Amino acid sequence: MDINGLTEREYIIIRDLLFKHTGISLGPSKKALVSGRLFNRVKELGYATYGDYFALLLSGKNPGELQKAIDLLTTNETYFFREPKHFAMLADVAREAKKDHIFRVWSAASSTGEEVYSIAMTLADLTRMGQCQNWEVRGSDISTRVLETARTGLYSMDRIEGISQDYLKRYCLRGTGPYENKILMDRKLREKTEFAQINLIEPLPELVPFDVIFLRNVLIYFEVAEKRKILKNLLPTLTPTGVLFVGLAESLNGVIDGMVSIGPGAYRVDRRGKA
Ligand SMILES: C[S@@+](CC[C@H](N)C(=O)[O-])C[C@H]1O[C@@H](n2cnc3c(N)ncnc32)[C@H](O)[C@@H]1O
Repeated sequence: MDINGLTEREYIIIRDLLFKHTGISLGPSKKALVSGRLFNRVKELGYATYGDYFALLLSGKNPGELQKAIDLLTTNETYFFREPKHFAMLADVAREAKKDHIFRVWSAASSTGEEVYSIAMTLADLTRMGQCQNWEVRGSDISTRVLETARTGLYSMDRIEGISQDYLKRYCLRGTGPYENKILMDRKLREKTEFAQINLIEPLPELVPFDVIFLRNVLIYFEVAEKRKILKNLLPTLTPTGVLFVGLAESLNGVIDGMVSIGPGAYRVDRRGKA
């Protein structure tokens, strides 16, 4: 069955629905992107218009379908060791941490997990060199689809570009048979990682304090008010000396006070003037 094109009215319905559930703001230029991303799903369900599909989402009768739409509408681009400077800084922060302490890191918009395993490889390597005794990494995202991939720790070989040969040898297993052309993150790394669905715009579940939070390449999808809300949710979970990373194209300027820049896309709580 053919599907009618996405009308302006329908676009506004889905734009508002996405905003309500995720805080993400879609500008007027995203109409083609939205229709493209939802087309196959609307067709699969046998609807003649996007509006019929949106009526199902709005009815509240099918939360699973709403989650599917969110999965399709979020942008999940990520790769191993993206913005590599942050991993060198992470290593410096971990080296400085107290020896008897569990060093905790949160990748708060982890997508399919490459960021989490890049953090894990960095910290595992410090452990190997006796420079970070104990650590754990948590990943979270609003999309359940990406979290499923993240939990497997299984990636296609064409994703490994950012991983050094040394880390590939130490921390990644090459697949064989049906897993040829795949790599699996080492079990020791997977055991120290945990993934959960967390919507950053909602009040957070109870979380242990983190020494480092990666909040990279996600703030760009929000307007200032929602960015502020997300940071107000997140920052209480950062230790007083902890570090927050945002994407290199992102900034906290004009969004929130009380944080001081310590490098590109890197912030600490501003303790100047405090005892
Ligand atoms: C472009 S990816 C960034 C991945 C990774 N942090 C990086 O820098 O490579 C942005 C992620 O933010 C997630 N996201 C968007 N809105 C969210 C929200 N309200 N709560 C939690 N995650 C959200 C998306 O599902 C997506 O996986």
